[in-house]
Amino acid sequence: MSENINENFNGSYIIIKALENGVNIIGLTRGRDTRFHHTEKLDAGEVYIAQFTEITSAIKIKGKAEISSAYGRIISGIQ
Ligand code: TRP
Repeated sequence: MSENINENFNGSYIIIKALENGVNIIGLTRGRDTRFHHTEKLDAGEVYIAQFTEITSAIKIKGKAEISSAYGRIISGIQ
């Protein structure tokens, strides 16, 4: 196990801005199992800044939010 949790993962951030109350951000585990290991609830206007790590390989977002990353920008939720 590496000393630095972000070693081998690019340091780019994902920025999530909630566009309604009760947006859920769920971190999913890296590896053979895909389990929820963290959930975070945002209210409208709140911003969450996160990175993928050795522990987290996928992120699920429920609700309406603006998601910005190196790949671009997308709005989640029903328009
Ligand atoms: N545990 C899976 C993994 O590390 C999580 C995952 C990443 C995943 N991307 C996925 C699960 C795409 C389903 C589809 O690969």
